[in-house]
Amino acid sequence: MRWLITGANGQLGQSMSRLLTSHGEEFHALSSSELDISDEAAVNNVLSAIKPDVVVNAAAYTAVDKAESEHDSAYKVNETGPALLASWCAGNTAHFIHVSTDYVFSGEGRIAWKETDAVDPQSVYGASKLAGEQAVFKICPEAIILRTAWVFSEYRNNFVKTMVKLAQQRDQLSVVADQIGCPTYAGDIARAIYSLMQQREKKGKVEVKGLYHFAGDIAVSWWAFAREIHQQALAVGLIERCPTLGAIPSSEYPTPATRPVFSVLDCSKVVAAGVEPSNWKAGLQAVLESIKAEGVR
Ligand SMILES: NC(=O)c1ccc[n+]([C@@H]2O[C@H](COP(=O)([O-])OP(=O)(O)OC[C@H]3O[C@@H](n4cnc5c(N)ncnc54)[C@H](OP(=O)(O)O)[C@@H]3O)[C@@H](O)[C@H]2O)c1
Repeated sequence: MRWLITGANGQLGQSMSRLLTSHGEEFHALSSSELDISDEAAVNNVLSAIKPDVVVNAAAYTAVDKAESEHDSAYKVNETGPALLASWCAGNTAHFIHVSTDYVFSGEGRIAWKETDAVDPQSVYGASKLAGEQAVFKICPEAIILRTAWVFSEYRNNFVKTMVKLAQQRDQLSVVADQIGCPTYAGDIARAIYSLMQQREKKGKVEVKGLYHFAGDIAVSWWAFAREIHQQALAVGLIERCPTLGAIPSSEYPTPATRPVFSVLDCSKVVAAGVEPSNWKAGLQAVLESIKAEGVR
């Protein structure tokens, strides 16, 4: 199997490269400057030169708030790009794995979202990711799309790094406590993608295709996530004391994009397909130990 990873410098892109390296797989990991997934000629030329058996699209426009004022840019990367990749894969019998988001849901209600639940994105980012899902399945019905949530990792800027930095600088912080979701370690998403591909090779692409939800095993608020980050950061010696953590409602932290209030994903389908659930607290420990050993990357 020859793998191709797009968006190679992102959280998932770097995690995918690390995982494929550890498994001794042949792969090409291309950054946004090496392959712009929204450029049709580039997609066709680069993919036809590499001839991958599996394409994992880890590229995305992920600036949720900025997307509200950059509609076209968000759709170019989140809809056009995946459509071009899906089209090449469909025409060249390559496996296509795309990644989407919990933000396709409204966030109303209190029951974990299943793959079959109705979508109703509340932001431009969520709508552009949904448009990407729909374009991919229209062009390449045998694709796999993994919806995930609240991604953190050793790489790039993310909530974990922000909370560690703030705790190093301040004694008191306020964090939103009325949005509930599932933190997800990008290393676990990479593992889930690899595992789904192994299942697909075993069971065939009729059995293993379509939408899967994959997110961390325990649902928390951003406030509870921050508290866990601080407790673990203290334990590994990244901070000297846990800051006092004020719990505030979303209304006290206004953002341009509306976020789902309840975006817990039901991951039973992916687990039934043979993928290990994501223990995000273990992932968090791995990230904090890596920051401690190597500093912030
Ligand atoms: N982050 C989250 O909390 C979250 C939550 C739910 C779902 N997801 C989904 O999970 C997936 C991975 O997210 P992530 O956190 O790894 O994202 P990320 O760290 O923001 O990485 C995205 C990568 O995409 C690249 N990119 C942007 N436009 C591109 C283009 N036109 N062509 C090629 N590459 C392009 C970026 O390039 P540069 O390096 O040049 O910036 C970046 O390396 C995405 O599909 C995202 O929508 C993320």
